[in-house]
Amino acid sequence: LPGAIYGGRRNSSGIEFGDRHELDEVTGNMQRSTAPVDAVPLVPGLTVKGEALTVCAPHDPSLKVGTVVFAQPSDVDAAMEAALKGFRTWSRTSAEARAVILERAADKLEAERDRLLALLAREAGKTIEDGISEVREATDFLRYYANRSREMFGAPTAMPGPTGEDNRLGWRGRGVFACIAPWNFPLAIFLGQVTAALAAGNAVIAKPAEQTPLIAYEAIRILHDAGVPGDALIFLPGEGDVGAALTKHPKLGGVAFTGSTQTAQAINRTLAAKDGPIVPLIAETGGLNAMIVDGTALPEQVADDVVMSAFRSAGQRCSALRLLFVQEDVADRMLEMIEGAARELVLGDPMLASTDIGPVIDNEQKAMLTEHVETMRKTQKVRFQGEVPAEGTFFAPTIVDLSSAEALDREIFGPVLHVVRWKARDLDTVLDKIEATGFGLTLGVHTRIEDLVRKVVDRLDTGNVYVNRNIIGAVVGTQPFGGSGLSGTGFKAGGPNYLTRFALEQVVSINT
Ligand code: SER
Repeated sequence: LPGAIYGGRRNSSGIEFGDRHELDEVTGNMQRSTAPVDAVPLVPGLTVKGEALTVCAPHDPSLKVGTVVFAQPSDVDAAMEAALKGFRTWSRTSAEARAVILERAADKLEAERDRLLALLAREAGKTIEDGISEVREATDFLRYYANRSREMFGAPTAMPGPTGEDNRLGWRGRGVFACIAPWNFPLAIFLGQVTAALAAGNAVIAKPAEQTPLIAYEAIRILHDAGVPGDALIFLPGEGDVGAALTKHPKLGGVAFTGSTQTAQAINRTLAAKDGPIVPLIAETGGLNAMIVDGTALPEQVADDVVMSAFRSAGQRCSALRLLFVQEDVADRMLEMIEGAARELVLGDPMLASTDIGPVIDNEQKAMLTEHVETMRKTQKVRFQGEVPAEGTFFAPTIVDLSSAEALDREIFGPVLHVVRWKARDLDTVLDKIEATGFGLTLGVHTRIEDLVRKVVDRLDTGNVYVNRNIIGAVVGTQPFGGSGLSGTGFKAGGPNYLTRFALEQVVSINT
């Protein structure tokens, strides 16, 4: 595979399932092996050396999923030089030809769905149900951006006017984009960013999250197999220092980043401090997502939607529910039902159809969640915590009663739901508190009162507002996704304007 750095052996898949072995040193869900790995290809004619890292399954650390060799910051220059060359060819490939390649890749993703599901379960702890939606979402991104690319980049738009000239407005790629992706949607978000940049005519250096390089490798392989040239799409798995070196590079054309708000702010500072062209940062970050439930809401539906929004995918979605505002008069009844539904959830091996919730991604996340709930135990009231399997990085769904919304001052990325009660006359205070978080990603409202919905929507600029339903699982092309404030820069992923910041406008005026 040109463009890939992939562990030790370079066979067609490189991934072995079910190979059990003893681990001597486990850091997070990875083991650092002592064996140095011979040169692996970065781009044709260029190799890097490194250590083979073994990726282990989060639900069972004795299960080896595959190996990877991480690039180092010193590899970034060579990757950039190659990608600049790739940009020259790819940017001159017609929008139609680029779209056809992306559609071919979408077909391949569908054809390989079962392997991808197994890898999503093994490497990222995704349940089969979550894996199916993730492969679907990835495929949708490819097809959607392919179509948008045809519409936007196919032919310049005539701009008739009083000048009497032939004025045409066209779009072109910006150069080499760094696409830096998170571990929570290692296929869909990774591919969404990469294919948006490619659809707009850019070359890409793709850095997956360090926890999920294997599924990312498969995604890159599929794009290369579909016809994206090796040097127009370079795979650069590595740790944070590789991402930092990429964003510092003077020849970078832009950055697409999904991850924490703090990292997005750091990237923003890095880009601002550089001399030379001003390049865009397209960031999708965190949320302190709330749901408002009033006394007219249907309790069964609320219970279903809260459990789905807070605990599905082990709460590891940026859209997940963190803060539930429930109206005092119905709170006891609603919370009893929510707790009852949470009690039914089955945690376990994500490959089993009976499993509702898989593990959290690694020991670091588990430790962060454990510490948070211990602090909550001391200062607030933990009303419910489920059971966890003995092995693996599982964290049980947990419900905490807060004395006030301010007791939660940051995003807690996992299956922990925080509950605050409100009185009917205090809706404005609830909205103030949601606004005061500074985030604006998703928001749920459960009510039968239309005026309440209007008031919430008028007042808050939250990116995705869901009424009388759960607040996760935005559908590409139908529910464009992304937030405001601390939650991201826009434009929304899976929406008609997303490609615009990946591209440059050019006007040609001909005196006819
Ligand atoms: N796009 C995902 C969702 O809507 C969030 O990461 O759940």
